[in-house]
Order: sequence, then structure tokens, then C-alpha cells
Amino acid sequence: MQVSQLIGSWYDSHKRSLPWRENPEPYRIWLSEIILQQTRVNQGMPYYTRFTERFPTLRELADASLDAVLLAWEGLGYYNRAHNLHRAAQTIRDEHQGIFPSDYSSIRALPGIGDYTAAAIASLAFNLPYAAVDGNVYRVLSRILGIPDPVDTSSGKKTFQNAANSLLDRQLPGRHNQAMIELGALVCLPKNPQCSSCPVQHCCWAFKEGITRELPTKNKKSRIRNRYFHYLAIWQDHNLYIKQRNAKDIWPMLYELPLIETPHPAELETLMLSREWQTLFHGTKVTLLNTSRSYLHKLSHQHIHARFYKIKVEPDYTLEEYRAVPADEFNRYAFPKLILSYFNTMKQ
Ligand code: ADE
Ligand code: SF4
Repeated sequence: MQVSQLIGSWYDSHKRSLPWRENPEPYRIWLSEIILQQTRVNQGMPYYTRFTERFPTLRELADASLDAVLLAWEGLGYYNRAHNLHRAAQTIRDEHQGIFPSDYSSIRALPGIGDYTAAAIASLAFNLPYAAVDGNVYRVLSRILGIPDPVDTSSGKKTFQNAANSLLDRQLPGRHNQAMIELGALVCLPKNPQCSSCPVQHCCWAFKEGITRELPTKNKKSRIRNRYFHYLAIWQDHNLYIKQRNAKDIWPMLYELPLIETPHPAELETLMLSREWQTLFHGTKVTLLNTSRSYLHKLSHQHIHARFYKIKVEPDYTLEEYRAVPADEFNRYAFPKLILSYFNTMKQ
């Protein structure tokens, strides 16, 4: 039997029962693929359920406000995915008569859809012969075929795409792609591949050579940028000042507290001398109520180190461009997970 057939029949008997597999409409497959782009299945599942409940059809998603979509996405991270999801739904409503496009190039042209996601949707929803190559598939291919090329270079990516194309089962491309992903998610794991229960062990290069740990390879470790966020939880009576972030940085359009950012760790005394502090408080009387622990929030290329300062201001204080919101209304706004974690400590 060929590799793709071995993996395909293993998939038939070992696959997880997932809602978008049971009900493979294009809208649901697309939604699941966007949610799973940077998220594991267990973590993404509640969001998939929430989206299909709040926005049962593409039309309802397209007609919803961006704030409603961001609120449903709250806590999942990489919020550009939610912005693009909303934009793509509107594109389909306005340019495709509300019907999910069924050819590869129209799918690929939608916001938030790259080569992998376009191939996944084309094959899973429309059974078109495109090989979907994501991180799971790089790992499985590099090990089975012994491909040493780095997965983070464009020439390496081409090598993997070509290998995936020649392995593709053209009769059942949807099943094939899911099977590759599933093998990577359940058996051919990054750290401890379960070779003893793998359907292709007898024809796997890395297993035979004993080099599963060495594959796949990367050209360079991604550089992590450290950022230091000093959030000011400014309370005036029972209200907290918040504002919407702009679209340029991480967490576009989510809500947050007044923020002073520094490129290095900084103490409160230093912050108090900064121009930002002057702009926020312009000499008004402030009382520091407490200082939180340091929070570490890891994104793919940045580490955010955050601290929250709880501050009380007097009734005559005002802060332009911010709104003062009572605690029982926080749930109307979408906040980054980091800020939600801080709010949770306030409730105890
Ligand atoms: N990760 C990305 N796409 C997936 C899918 N269709 N099933 C399971 N895990 C996935
Ligand atoms: Fe991965 Fe091991 Fe299977 Fe090879 S034998 S594909 S390394 S799980």
C-alpha cells in the first residue's frame, strides 16, 4: 500500500469526531480552519461552538458588528484572524451573492486565507485536489521522507509543497489532508512521536535512521522582542478608564487600560517622570492603591511583560479619549486575555 493509503485508512479508524467533520459545510470548515490557524483543537473548540451559536450562518457573521465578532473571539489571541473573518464574510456577502466560493483562486483571494487555508477549504469542503501544508504536515513529511530542508525559508517551503503535492491522494484529497494533519496532531508529535503506533513506521525515513528528533529543521530561531507594558487601572469612584486600541499593533481594536510602554523594565518612579504620565495625570492628585505581580504574555514573536498599577483619582479628574466604565459593564467590551486575567484577580 502507498503511504497516502496507509495514512488514509489509519485516519478512518482513528480520527477524532469533530463538529466540522460531522457537518462539513464550507462556512463551518472555513470557520474551524481560521480558529485552528494558531490554536489547538481543545482550546479552539469552545470558540467554534460559540461562533456557530452566535453566527449560525455566513450572513449573520457578515451583518454582525466588528465589536460583536471581537467579543466572541475574546481570549483566543491573534485578533487579526477575527478582523479578517469578518471582512471575508462581508466579501462573500457582497461579491459572491452570499455563497462560499467553490474554486481555489476565489477562496485564496479572501482576507485571512493563505495557501494552507485555501487548500484545506478547497479539499475539505469541495473535494478539490490541493495539498494543504501546515506545521503538522511539515513535521510528518520531513520525517517520513527524510526532508532536511528548513521549513522557515521560501525554498524549503517549495520543497515541502512539492512533496505534499506528489503524495496527495487525488481521489480523496479532503480525507488525505485531514489524515496528514491528524497524524501530526495525534501520533507524529513534535517532542515524542509515537512511532510504535504509527501506520507508516515501516516506511518512515526518520524512524529507520533514528533521527526523529532532528526533523523538521529550521534555518534560524525566531527572535523574540521583549516589551514592557505598564497598565494604569485608573479608578474614579466605581468606574475604570478604558479605551479602544488602534489597528496598527497587536490586539487591534480591543479595549485596554491607559498604557505606558517601555523597551526595558521600569519602576513606577521612572514612569512618573515620563511624558505619558504627565499627559495622563497633568499634575492631578493620584493615590496608588496597589501594584500587581508581573504578568508574562507570550506571542509568537514577542513577549509582553505587564504590570498593573491600581490608582485612585479625585472626582474632578477627566481623561480625554477614554471612557469611564463600571466594573459590571466590562463584559460588553473585548479585552486581551492579559487584561482579563488581571480583572479576574480583582473579583476574588
Ligand atoms: N488543525 C487545522 N485544521 C484542522 C482540522 N481540519 N482538523 C483538526 N485539526 C486541524
Ligand atoms: Fe512520525 Fe514516527 Fe510515524 Fe515516522 S514513524 S511518521 S517519526 S510517528
